[in-house]
Amino acid sequence: MPITTDIALAVERLRQGGVVALPTETVYGLGADASNSGAVQRIFAIKGRPADHPLIVHMGDAYMMQAWAREIPPAAIRLAERFWPGPLTLILKRGQTPLEVTGGQDSVGLRVPGHPVALDLLRAFGGGVAAPSANRFGRVSPTRAEHVRDEFGESVDLILDGGDCTVGLESTILSLLDEQPRLLRPGMISIAELEIVIGMPILGPQDRGDIRAPGLMESHYAPDTRLLPCPSEELATTVRKLTEAGLRVAVMTRTVVGGALPAETHPLTMPIEPADYGRQLYASLRRLDDGDFDIIVVEQPPDNDSWRAVNDRLGRASHGASS
Ligand code: TXA
Ligand code: MG
Repeated sequence: MPITTDIALAVERLRQGGVVALPTETVYGLGADASNSGAVQRIFAIKGRPADHPLIVHMGDAYMMQAWAREIPPAAIRLAERFWPGPLTLILKRGQTPLEVTGGQDSVGLRVPGHPVALDLLRAFGGGVAAPSANRFGRVSPTRAEHVRDEFGESVDLILDGGDCTVGLESTILSLLDEQPRLLRPGMISIAELEIVIGMPILGPQDRGDIRAPGLMESHYAPDTRLLPCPSEELATTVRKLTEAGLRVAVMTRTVVGGALPAETHPLTMPIEPADYGRQLYASLRRLDDGDFDIIVVEQPPDNDSWRAVNDRLGRASHGASS
């Protein structure tokens, strides 16, 4: 399955009902013509995703909302004007979107991605492209074309290469189905930024009713190697204990310098700023996962709003992992 930069070829494959991996600013997606049910079903099969878990419809322009959704509230228009193209997914009442795409729900997730290659592809294609992140179900999302190839081998028809993703974490998901907007997945666009634009408070994900979203499952985005979050002040002691117990330990540090850790550990220094950290997180987890380690210890970032998306992903990647 070739990696290409040929957008015309990718459009042709989509028109033929193919599954095409495409770059976005957040993570790579596994895309198919959203109005072709056979093509959409292949996405679920390739990804190993349960059929009742909905896909996001990616569009080249915000006006296409009118077709895929219905009864669009004013808040959706304002958010689209402010944040599209960009890393925000809006959950609205379903319009002409086929039920295969929405996992049988009468709602739809819509997004205009802020990546030049994705926009060129979507505009040349003209329709909607249904796409989940291009990883096997439950695993770490891909942030470069080679990750997609490593993940799926020959089962994808084409991989469109758009370089490294600049955001690196999946889009912020906001549901506008009810009176009060609800955050379903934190991302680089924060609750505070959204609230300013719509002038309303936003509910957190904890009371999300019966909406199904696999990105919200407690264990998700997980590497194969066990991931252990650890406070900065306990990092050196924890790593020493694990090393003495005979484990091969990799450490993702932010502030603790390598010299404070046992010589036989493998330290990876992560960025101090949340946006930079988010951009590198998945590639770093993949790299350490490919190394010969028994455990990856992660120095916990600060517990505040600007780290919310990163902390969310670290929490899910470490949840319930045993080895
Ligand atoms: O950044 C992103 O959002 C990436 C890129 C490729 O656009 N896509 C992505 O897709 O992360 P996926 O399928 O891995 O995660 C989308 C999340 C899922 O948790 C899904 O359940 C939720 O969006 N979702 C989609 N449609 C929904 C709906 N109608 N109601 C509730 N949740 C929905
Ligand atoms: Mg995903």
